[in-house]
Amino acid sequence: MVKILSFANFKGGVGKTSTTALTSWALAAKGYKVLAIDFDAQANLTSLLLKTKASGSENAIITIDRSLMSAINENIPINEIAISITDNLDLVPTAVDFSMYPRYLDKMFNSEIEKVSFFKNALGSFKDKYDFIFIDVPPTLSLQNDTAFYACDDIVVVLQTQERSMAGAEAFIQYLQNTLINEFESSVDVLGILPVLSKRNAQVDAEILEAAKQEFGEENIFRNTITIMERIKRMDMTGITANNNDRWDNKVHESFSLVADELIARLNSVKEG
Ligand SMILES: Nc1ncnc2c1ncn2[C@@H]1O[C@H](COP(=O)(O)OP(=O)(O)OP(=O)(O)O)[C@@H](O)[C@H]1O
Ligand SMILES: [Mg+2]
Repeated sequence: MVKILSFANFKGGVGKTSTTALTSWALAAKGYKVLAIDFDAQANLTSLLLKTKASGSENAIITIDRSLMSAINENIPINEIAISITDNLDLVPTAVDFSMYPRYLDKMFNSEIEKVSFFKNALGSFKDKYDFIFIDVPPTLSLQNDTAFYACDDIVVVLQTQERSMAGAEAFIQYLQNTLINEFESSVDVLGILPVLSKRNAQVDAEILEAAKQEFGEENIFRNTITIMERIKRMDMTGITANNNDRWDNKVHESFSLVADELIARLNSVKEG
């Protein structure tokens, strides 16, 4: 059964897109079929994954013919515009035209529930071809993101401890509860909170982690955390690199492999419980 997920927070720049890309990569490397959907008109995920594809192919520049918005406008099934990035990992690319998406929803639908459920329905026809679908969203609370979260089974809240962003995470979870779950009767769950640690300021990291355990319950915090790694920043330029002889590449992929394992374990324990 496919699982549809989003790494989210309404705070910007906390690592949502990098985490989405590297966790997708890790799951694909483990043999799962993964689709990453870029739901942000900034198109950072598209850029990162197209660079990743380009670095592994002969023609170094890869451009897209069809964006997510064009597929929606032309009523083309979204999977038909997916691009293969590596074995088992596909991307639904987006472009700046995705900024028209809220207007599309307003034009096409009258009721709030029709708008909110649009994207879930759009995924309906092909989603079972994948084991995991990740939707990478911009840092906003908006109808646009509501349509992504409504399509999700689970959301992982990304919490950057360095930023003292606890309040943001709390507000975000409140929002999901009040809007999606209570108002729209979505069945989406918060699978857990994934800390991104700075390590440069271990004291602040430890304080925020402790506060998060108090606030959300220790069992809801991922045990496998992500640290700030310079190599991840470099991947913005190079695409995802995975040179087995490079210890920094290895360190990045080891971290996300553990996060991917924990994600699977958490999904299985939800299913059993
Ligand atoms: N674990 C990490 N270590 C070091 N740098 C990271 C890490 N995760 C993300 N970054 C870098 O931080 C910047 C912001 O990350 P990213 O784009 O993933 O955040 P985001 O939450 O998706 O941002 P936005 O809210 O704009 O969508 C990028 O330059 C990225 O390379
Ligand atoms: Mg992003």
